[in-house]
Amino acid sequence: MPLQFADRLNNVETSAIRELFKLLGKPGIVSFAGGFPDPAMFDVEGIKEASGKALSEEPGGALQYGATEGYGPLREQLSAFMATKGAKDVAPDQLIVTTGSQQALDLLGKTMISPGDKVIVEGPTFLATIQCFRLYGAELISAPIDANGVKTDELEKLIAQHKPKFVYLIPTFGNPSGALLSLERRKQVLAMAVKHNTLIVEDDPYGDLYFGEAPSPSLLALSPTVPGSRELLAHCGSLSKVLSPGLRVGWMIAPAELLAKATMCKQFSDAHTSTFAQATAAQYLKAGRMPNTLKNVRKVYGERALAMGAALKRELGDAIAFTQPQGGLFFWASLTGANGKSKDAGDFAKKAIEQLVAFVPGAPFYAANPDLATLRLSFATADVAKIEEGVARLGKAL
Ligand SMILES: Cc1ncc(COP(=O)(O)O)c(C=O)c1O
Repeated sequence: MPLQFADRLNNVETSAIRELFKLLGKPGIVSFAGGFPDPAMFDVEGIKEASGKALSEEPGGALQYGATEGYGPLREQLSAFMATKGAKDVAPDQLIVTTGSQQALDLLGKTMISPGDKVIVEGPTFLATIQCFRLYGAELISAPIDANGVKTDELEKLIAQHKPKFVYLIPTFGNPSGALLSLERRKQVLAMAVKHNTLIVEDDPYGDLYFGEAPSPSLLALSPTVPGSRELLAHCGSLSKVLSPGLRVGWMIAPAELLAKATMCKQFSDAHTSTFAQATAAQYLKAGRMPNTLKNVRKVYGERALAMGAALKRELGDAIAFTQPQGGLFFWASLTGANGKSKDAGDFAKKAIEQLVAFVPGAPFYAANPDLATLRLSFATADVAKIEEGVARLGKAL
């Protein structure tokens, strides 16, 4: 007899991107498809030292079961880390440690979404969030973006019309958009939260990855300037993109009532995030290595982003349109159809694979009304020479 799976699985399908990833094993392929940081950037020495200290200084804490909310010394370090990023008033007990920020998103889904509830996301947005919220039965409403992030006038209309359970945004160097929400729009989003009594979820795994000047403060850091907004804000952070995704250390800062419910749900899910990973992360932050690590990743990814922008202009000319990202890991681009070239990024992806270069078509990143001309290119894992080679191959594929 076939297995009878839960109805909730009817709302989600295996991601189109995973299917594409199966093709990436081809020898010699240059991949701009992944969303991973470059393993060459991992501070292996620093993590080795931190894990050694975790074991020698507090083996009980690092290897025993721990509190669901998170390992105390890590919560303290994360509170101090958030203060360096402008969120100066986050006490350790106002955050919980999660198994990657992905788990924070899952806990938000679990605690907030009943089947049929509406949730507003950006169009485009992070694919795993689309899948995760749909698993809980959310009806996703897509708010349009431009180079300055979500269009706040449209967002406000959608909030007024749909009265969503919450709004999910990646304001700083979004995945896949690479867009940076302007300061003015950030303030508008916070004001909107208060005016419409709507929870805003700020997902911020890329905020530290800026290449020039620091971006506008996070919604969390700005929230004291908009009275009442902090009580309507959940902020998700992660060490994945700057230190190591394998540690699976993320965190969520949210109103006490929401944190309590999320902690209860986390208890039934994984009891707590790996204490060994948490103790290692705590020692790493305590050792003061993070500023230098951030300096390194900003420099290397910044050079790669510049190289990719220049190569795209050179090799694809006006057949492609994009905004040069100021941070994060991604270029978000559109095929323009100039000179009779294709405007279908799915077709282009197939031709690109034949030329041994891969990227992800943009359509799956839309919860509704996909723009078939869009594509996402990651500049994180290929060095400058590989980026130039890969983009030259894209030029041939077009
Ligand atoms: C926007 C966004 N949010 C959350 C995550 C999840 O990251 P992690 O669970 O490794 O912290 C990612 C990873 O790609 C992401 O791009």
